Amino acid sequence: MIGLEFPDDAGVYKLNSQTALIQTLDFLTPITDDPYEFGQIAAANSLSDVYAMGGEPITVMNIVCFPICDLDESVLAQTLKGGLDKINESGAVLVGGHSVDDPEFKYGLSVTGIVHPDKVLTNSKAVTGDAVILTKPVGTGILSTAIKAKLASEKNICEAVAVMSMLNKTAAQLMSKFRVTACTDITGFGLAGHLLEVAKGSKKEITLYTQKVPLLKNALDFANMGLVPAGAHKNRKFFEELIHIDTGIDRAVIDLMFDPQTSGGLLISLNKKDAETCVEEMKTKGITAQIIGEITRDSHTGFLNLI
Ligand code: CO
Ligand code: CO
Ligand code: CO
Repeated sequence: MIGLEFPDDAGVYKLNSQTALIQTLDFLTPITDDPYEFGQIAAANSLSDVYAMGGEPITVMNIVCFPICDLDESVLAQTLKGGLDKINESGAVLVGGHSVDDPEFKYGLSVTGIVHPDKVLTNSKAVTGDAVILTKPVGTGILSTAIKAKLASEKNICEAVAVMSMLNKTAAQLMSKFRVTACTDITGFGLAGHLLEVAKGSKKEITLYTQKVPLLKNALDFANMGLVPAGAHKNRKFFEELIHIDTGIDRAVIDLMFDPQTSGGLLISLNKKDAETCVEEMKTKGITAQIIGEITRDSHTGFLNLI
């Protein structure tokens, strides 16, 4: 049903009229000093693509590249423990994996999920007039840069880790009660990049209300200090032809819109009335959900307006 010809969060293969298989794979290099937290974040990040397709993860396998001579084995054990705790929280089952000796530590999951073939959520069916919901604050790339520069407080680190290790499971469960037209999750392309992917897939113009986007604490301050990862600039350059940025938007705000995210939130398109109800329900479950944009009109190429 979904393969290489349509860029989406995962591949989807129809098994029969009741069930389609979702397959995805992601792995990361460490983004925190704490291996247990890194394991949690990498697992949440890998599982997210199944949620973004409207599915439920069923089985997972570990992917590990580990510098056996340079790092203590306890680092690997703690990482796998963090991952397993998130896998258990998702309800999926760890069934295997593979590891190799590698100079650079990397960990992630290959995830298999299922979904009803009629309930697959893609990037390509957003409808004009829809509202767009985001379910996590942005700024994890900028925060990670600040953490590496030893400028982030303990509180900053705690918040960033909590956001990145949070599963998109509850958000996905709540959205499934509504008639969602399109869904994806925010990762390396940043909020603007992934929103543009929906715009291109759906052939729509999308307006992003930059002032409405929830941000991690101090992310703007760090962006103002220039603690912006190279990926944010690359994203802006890569997508600029199909994005209009209103004059008058702060440089730091723009950087945050393009900031590459690790294990970011879901981006959900659905009619405005349902979107308001959905956001309220998400908030009561502790999810930082917000309506951050709108599907404005048809566009052959797909277009994003930052206002
Ligand atoms: Co994705
Ligand atoms: Co992915
Ligand atoms: Co093997």
